[in-house]
Amino acid sequence: MSQSYNRGLVEDFGRWREFTAGMWAWILHKFSGWVLIGYLFTHIAVLSTAIPGANGATAMLNGEQVNVYTATIQGLEMLTVVRIMEVGLLAVAVFHILNGVRLLFVDLGVGLEAQDKSFYASLVVTGAIVLASIPTFLEGAF
Ligand code: HEM
Repeated sequence: MSQSYNRGLVEDFGRWREFTAGMWAWILHKFSGWVLIGYLFTHIAVLSTAIPGANGATAMLNGEQVNVYTATIQGLEMLTVVRIMEVGLLAVAVFHILNGVRLLFVDLGVGLEAQDKSFYASLVVTGAIVLASIPTFLEGAF
């Protein structure tokens, strides 16, 4: 049997102040999805330096001529801000995957009564994976 909910008026923008798990799941899923799209372009730009690299192009890194692809990767990894952004990228990707799988179950009608709990579980598991990754990502960064 269908059930109706009183969600208030769409025009009542003040409703965003009322915390609901569903609202934050929606916002974070959109945010993480679009950050991943943005990263995709960055990723392609970095990897495409492998083409001139394969043709022998070099660049100066720490006073040495090295393959341009190696110089790009090592030059980026030398920047602390890049290391921190990598942790952020992992957080965004893991959350999007976990929450995405949760949404697929919701679309199938599985676990509808526990939507808020499964959202919190996605956040907790994302947090645990991200924390566990920090020693690897930030090794030697500071
Ligand atoms: C295992 C990996 C992934 C899963 C399970 C997943 C799952 C989903 C699901 C279920 C939705 C629809 C949410 C809704 O019902 O509104 C969605 C939206 C989206 N996903 Fe993913 N996704 C994954 C990977 C990715 C990747 C790699 C990217 C980007 C490169 C991406 C970008 C997006 C974007 C842009 C949206 C639309 C966000 C919006 O509503 O504006 N996703 N994802």
